[in-house]
Amino acid sequence: MTHLSTPLSLSNKLTLDNRLAKSAMSERLATRDGRVSAELVRLYERWARSGAGLLVTGNVMVDARALGESGNVVVEDERDLEGLRAWAQAARSGGARVLMQINHPGRQAPRTLTRHLVAPSAVGLKGAGPLFAKPRALEPLEIEQIIGRFAQTARIAEKAGFDGVQIHGAHGYLVSQFLSPRSNRRDDAWGGDAPRRRRFLLEIVRAVRAGCQRRLRGGAQAQLGRLPEGWVRRGRVHGAARGARR
Ligand SMILES: Cc1cc2nc3c(=O)[nH]c(=O)nc-3n(C[C@H](O)[C@H](O)[C@H](O)COP(=O)(O)O)c2cc1C
Repeated sequence: MTHLSTPLSLSNKLTLDNRLAKSAMSERLATRDGRVSAELVRLYERWARSGAGLLVTGNVMVDARALGESGNVVVEDERDLEGLRAWAQAARSGGARVLMQINHPGRQAPRTLTRHLVAPSAVGLKGAGPLFAKPRALEPLEIEQIIGRFAQTARIAEKAGFDGVQIHGAHGYLVSQFLSPRSNRRDDAWGGDAPRRRRFLLEIVRAVRAGCQRRLRGGAQAQLGRLPEGWVRRGRVHGAARGARR
């Protein structure tokens, strides 16, 4: 038990008061237009009192036109800066560090919420049923624009008082769609082999860092149980997870 209550310094220079962390859990408590609600602030006030050293928010969307589920906060610009400040303040009120998890669903978005699905390639979700339409392959310029959106959301998170961001790289959303050869069938700068498939994630990390005032801390959530092909060589994890720490 002593171990759990000792501080922990992460390789990204973030120091946590202890080793208890709340992982990202989609709260679905945003207002209808994707703003922070009073309920969301209240929830984080309560979680702050738990004594955990780290709270990671549920996924916050970088594009209001691309929603994976209803009720997620959307951060595209500074229109809800005050709400975001209240959220960060509530989460930090018990001494925890707080990371905002940022996400784009790509093809994994129900047609009831997202009309025009985009993905690395025009490959639909296997066995997903009629709720998920077949996506359109992203143009290179659109890929750059989405990277810019991640950077913009991170910049605003920093301004609002979050300690860092976590890039959602798991659970079949856009970053993991780029990483996987099953969903990324491109043969250009963004796909074709493992280094080009992980370029999207690494470019997001670079853009996030370049756009922030101080050295914004964070990381990427990867689904270690199902690492995309090309990540594990001689039993060691390669690529994005390592590059993101640089
Ligand atoms: C209700 C719920 C919502 C979740 N939402 C997210 C999310 O927004 N982003 C994410 O990366 N993981 C999400 N997860 C996954 C958790 O962060 C975590 O990885 C998962 O629950 C496995 O951890 P555990 O074994 O400790 O439960 C969610 C899990 C639950 C139960």
